[in-house]
Amino acid sequence: MKILVTGGAGFIGSAVVRAAIRAGHSVVNLDALTYAADLRNVADVSDDPGYAFVHADIRDRPALDTAFATHAPDAVMHLAAESHVDRSIDGPGDFIETNVTGTFHLLEAARAYWMRIGRPDGFRFHHISTDEVFGSLGPEGRFHEDTPYDPRSPYSASKAASDHLVRAWHETYGLPVVLSNCSNNYGPFHFPEKLIPVVILNALAGKPLPIYGDGSNVRDWLFVEDHARALLAVLALGKAGRSYAIGGEAERSNLDLVRTICSILDRLSPRPSGSHADAITFVSDRPGHDARYAIDPSRIRTELGWRPSVTLEEGLERTVAWYLSHEAWWRPLLERRGVGERLGKHA
Ligand SMILES: NC(=O)c1ccc[n+]([C@@H]2O[C@H](COP(=O)([O-])OP(=O)(O)OC[C@H]3O[C@@H](n4cnc5c(N)ncnc54)[C@H](O)[C@@H]3O)[C@@H](O)[C@H]2O)c1
Repeated sequence: MKILVTGGAGFIGSAVVRAAIRAGHSVVNLDALTYAADLRNVADVSDDPGYAFVHADIRDRPALDTAFATHAPDAVMHLAAESHVDRSIDGPGDFIETNVTGTFHLLEAARAYWMRIGRPDGFRFHHISTDEVFGSLGPEGRFHEDTPYDPRSPYSASKAASDHLVRAWHETYGLPVVLSNCSNNYGPFHFPEKLIPVVILNALAGKPLPIYGDGSNVRDWLFVEDHARALLAVLALGKAGRSYAIGGEAERSNLDLVRTICSILDRLSPRPSGSHADAITFVSDRPGHDARYAIDPSRIRTELGWRPSVTLEEGLERTVAWYLSHEAWWRPLLERRGVGERLGKHA
């Protein structure tokens, strides 16, 4: 299958590109190369004859039309997005433009192309979204495919809007879409502004390990390579018009998560004295910080036979080891705009 992947130079998109090429698919990686992108993320597969790169912005409709006409994909996997909640608090405009308007242009370009090639049922527009569209859970319950939408940050509101557009293009125009809403990802090539790489790299630099609020916020973590496998399963086996909730069933409070990372670092890269956990520092909370996310992945398990391949502890161990052996990857990224700064505090 030839797959047009948007955002394939980012964290999850690059894992999808690598997994798709290794599974024997052809990939057209379309990416605007924002601050969050790095083509080194796909260096392992970029010499493959089945790989092509298109430097384009999803808000640029003529560029999208050219990409569809030139490459004639069998499917689209749409991951291009502004993805950092804290940046969405400081500058929501980029999130509306890329996540909402960009998704609209991509849908329209895909629809025009799909109609031109005779509206094949087997075509797929796979929209990759987040569990954050469902809002914030209390101590009980889990998100599933029918949970009502209740986004609470500019980021999650922009992703919710894009989910609604994708469903509307299915209902109104018949475009064969599938959607997936996933919990927090972690793993190699995670941009060093998100919690897990921040903790690892601050610990290695002997800096404080910042935790928002009291650290009680709960997230359900999934290893990025398991997410990439799930996405390829949804693309291949998912029913048109259906959505799939994806999660690792690995709920942890932020404080527990950071303590686990510290104990791995204490073994793999110990401090001269004491534990890395001694550097944990509580900082002012994110405005509107969702208390808990958790996913019930029953549908993707039973209908598509997918399940995570690693536990959170195994995945974290692999991730910490990866950062320890890939300083040449992450060191230059620390110089990028906003990295290492406290963002999203609001006034
Ligand atoms: N990171 C998570 O934990 C998580 C969880 C669930 C869902 N998601 C979703 O998965 C997708 C990928 O997330 P990620 O963490 O890999 O993001 P990322 O920020 O690492 O990568 C986003 C990529 O999109 C590209 N991009 C941004 N704006 C673009 C534009 N206008 N045109 C073309 N390309 C553009 C960037 O250059 C970058 O390569 C997003 O849609 C996100 O909402 C992320």
